[in-house]
Amino acid sequence: MYTFRDFYHNEVKLSFQTEPFSNRPKHVWVICRCNGQWLLTKHKERGLEFPGGKVENGETAKEAAIREVHEETGGIVEDISYIGQYFVAGKGGDVIKNVYFATVERLTEQETYFETDGPVLLSGLPKDIRKNKNYSFIMKDDVLVQCMQHIQKLI
Ligand code: GTP
Repeated sequence: MYTFRDFYHNEVKLSFQTEPFSNRPKHVWVICRCNGQWLLTKHKERGLEFPGGKVENGETAKEAAIREVHEETGGIVEDISYIGQYFVAGKGGDVIKNVYFATVERLTEQETYFETDGPVLLSGLPKDIRKNKNYSFIMKDDVLVQCMQHIQKLI
């Protein structure tokens, strides 16, 4: 279990165990690879981030992850695996989010990308991400760093 502060100084707990905080998390976040590149989306308010969002009624967290990747990037998920789960003691309440690693087979053009401007493919993530205004706050804490270290062993 790792404990740290996020960009807004909220406390975050991250674990790579199987769903340590909740087996019915309401949020998902999906670190995506597509044709050897990282696949992000550009949220209209927050900026560049890996796709994700809320689990809808009647949906599993994994189903939500696959749907969110499609809605926000047009990506068709080929393979997806659970990485970990984190808990944020946010000012507006607690958030529990599952993190997945997905391989996206291809991108399909969508009429809408919901709250985002659609897919962004990057060969690498910048080193200055925490100071970079183009990136979302959800990319600016140790969740990204720790999960990327975990994923490097898988790719
Ligand atoms: P809507 O309900 O869709 O309007 O979104 P919201 O941002 O008001 O609510 P949400 O439940 O998504 O998030 C509530 C708060 O939790 C945010 O304002 C953040 O402080 C925090 N939060 C949500 N997701 C993350 C995340 O991935 N990382 C971090 N560090 N904080 C998060």
